[in-house]
Amino acid sequence: MHVLSVVGARPNFMKVAPLLHRLAARGHASSLVHTGQHYDANMSDAFFRDLGMPEPDHHLGVGSGSHAQQTAKVMAAFEPIVQERSPDVVVVVGDVNSTLACTLVCSKLLIPVAHVEAGLRSRDREMPEEINRLVTDCLADLLLTPSPDADENLRAEGVAEERIVHVGNIMIDSLVAQLPRARSSDVVTRLGQRPGEYGVVTLHRPSNVDDPEVLGGVLDALRDIAREVPLVFPCHPRTRERLAEVPGGADGLLLTDPLGYVDFMALVADSKIVLTDSGGLQEETTWHRIPCVTIRENTERPITITEGSNVLAGTDPDQIRTLAAQALKTPRDEHPTPALWDGKTADRIIDALEAWSEGPRPR
Ligand code: UD1
Repeated sequence: MHVLSVVGARPNFMKVAPLLHRLAARGHASSLVHTGQHYDANMSDAFFRDLGMPEPDHHLGVGSGSHAQQTAKVMAAFEPIVQERSPDVVVVVGDVNSTLACTLVCSKLLIPVAHVEAGLRSRDREMPEEINRLVTDCLADLLLTPSPDADENLRAEGVAEERIVHVGNIMIDSLVAQLPRARSSDVVTRLGQRPGEYGVVTLHRPSNVDDPEVLGGVLDALRDIAREVPLVFPCHPRTRERLAEVPGGADGLLLTDPLGYVDFMALVADSKIVLTDSGGLQEETTWHRIPCVTIRENTERPITITEGSNVLAGTDPDQIRTLAAQALKTPRDEHPTPALWDGKTADRIIDALEAWSEGPRPR
């Protein structure tokens, strides 16, 4: 079986790395396309290095742009490559513009697509990722889901049962594989912190950072929380550009450039609390059982609330302060890890691809 995998943006790398490793170990032909949606060394190269990923076979170099520009550039550049490579299946992951663009190209070329992390829904169509999820799941042939809620979402949308396989959370494969290296990272001391006595902040959603009023309110709350517990803030380039527009900015927070995968995992693993608008981090904190205050009105990952350590604060500064104070006071939750978040998802994905490529293929 020849599997062509696509990566584009930072949250894709840790989802594809374990799959590439297991495909190679199981003797399948594999190729990798990097769309170049993320291109800074600390948003891309550092992750390839940390995760032991091979150089991409093709780098499309699309870079930043409006949604239409970025999606169109990926489509135009990807089409001749996928035609030339003619894989048995293309694997796309997550919900970024590259995921949608490559799925759309393949479905018109009748090249089978498998979507890893299928079925998640925030039910918020103002979120660009929600549009990407809906269209990708509508078009992809095989829908590989991380959690039972995702299966339910797909069934409710009328997706045929044979297209849905619950494989578990692939991101946890990377976490489990890299945890020993994270344990020997010195990032916590390098940043002048003590294990268990600091918090981690990440912010990058356009709805939170592009509007100075919203960003101002969120940072107001974070500056207050930082008086109680030091907050380390590895800052996304989108957010970095906006900080100067907000009075007080990130004063009192320890601002750093984006960190590589291993250092970031090490920083999170030893933290007391995480405040974030990231999707993946809600899951990683649930696995670590670290309290997570999500600075969003909704989540496409409800299992992190029902079976994890996540709470939704929205962007109201008082609510962020209140939930952070509660999380800092509450003893660490000892919930069990959600089913199939066990570091073995890549093998279940390959099992599903093998079974599907041998059987009848419903479209
Ligand atoms: C993208 C994904 C989002 C994901 C996030 C993780 C979409 C619609 N969004 O959002 O789902 O959570 O990645 O980071 O696909 N920039 C750089 N260097 C880079 C990349 C970006 O400076 O390597 C800056 C540019 O100013 C760019 C901006 O960040 O315009 C936004 O980048 P973009 O790829 O459009 O979206 P993200 O906000 O990163």
